[in-house]
Amino acid sequence: MKFNTTTRIYAALSVALTFIGLHSCVHSPLTGIIDPIDTLVIVDTDTIVLPPLVTCSEDTAYFTNDVLPILVSSCAITGCHDAETHEEGIVLSTWNSIMASDVVKPGDPGDSELFEKLFDSDPEERMPPAPYAPLTAQEIAILNTWVLQGALNNSCDDCDTSDVTYSGIVSTLISAYCTGCHGDVSPSASLSLTSYENVAFSANNGSLMSSLFATDGYSLMPYGSSPLPDCRIEQIQLWVDAGAPNN
Ligand code: HEC
Repeated sequence: MKFNTTTRIYAALSVALTFIGLHSCVHSPLTGIIDPIDTLVIVDTDTIVLPPLVTCSEDTAYFTNDVLPILVSSCAITGCHDAETHEEGIVLSTWNSIMASDVVKPGDPGDSELFEKLFDSDPEERMPPAPYAPLTAQEIAILNTWVLQGALNNSCDDCDTSDVTYSGIVSTLISAYCTGCHGDVSPSASLSLTSYENVAFSANNGSLMSSLFATDGYSLMPYGSSPLPDCRIEQIQLWVDAGAPNN
C-alpha cells in the first residue's frame, strides 16, 4: 500500500489515540468494575491534602465547598453509565486530576474546555449528556466564578454541627454529593436517594454511614472521589444517631 500524506496523518492519529486510550485504562483502577468508561474516568490516585479552612466569603467560589460537589455528582455519572464514545481520559474527581486533565484555564473561563461541553447544543455531546439534565444556570455560574478567581484548590469553613435537620442540612448534602448517581434516572446500585424515605431507609440499615466511611465492605461514597469533609460526615452522623428524623 502506497502511503500518501493523509494516510500517514491518520496512522499517526490512530497511534496517538491508541496510546491515549491505553494510558487512561492503565491508570484506572475501576476499568474492571465499570467498563467501558466514557469521557470522565473516575480515578483517584491523588494524595489527598486538604487545604486549610478559612471563613467563607460570599463573593468567593470555593473548590471543596462549591465546585467539587457539582463535578462529582453531575459529571462523574458519565463515567458510571455511558458507553464507548469520546474516551478523552478526562478526570474530574479531584482538584489535581482536574488540573491534569487540562480542561480548566485559571482566570479564563472562555478558554476552558470544561465550559464548551456544558453548552453543546447536541444533547449527546453536552455534559452531562442526555438523559441527564444540563447543569443549572446557578451551577454554571459557580464554576465560572471559580475559574475566574484562579481555579484555586480552596475551601472554607461553613459547617455547623449544632442544629442538623434533614430538610436544612442532610437533604442538601445528599443532593449535592449523591443524587447525580443515585437519582431517579437509572440510579447506581439501584439506589435512589431523592426521597426522605429512601435516605432514612439507608440511614437505618447502616449502609449510609458505612458508605461514607467505606466500612463493612461498602465502597467509599461519593464513588471514585474523595471522602466528604469530616464536618459533613459528622453532620450526617448526628442526624442518623438521632434516629434519622424527618425534620
Ligand atoms: C459517581 C457516582 C456515585 C456517587 C456520586 C455516589 N455514589 Fe453511591 N454508589 C455508586 C456505585 C457505582 C455504587 C455501587 C458500588 C459497589 O457496588 O461497590 C454505589 C453504592 C452505594 C451504596 C450501597 C448500596 C447497596 O445497597 O449496596 C450506598 C449506601 C451509596 N452508594 C450511598 C451514596 C451516598 C450517601 C453518596 C453521596 C455521599 C453516594 N453514594 C454518591 C455510585 C455513586
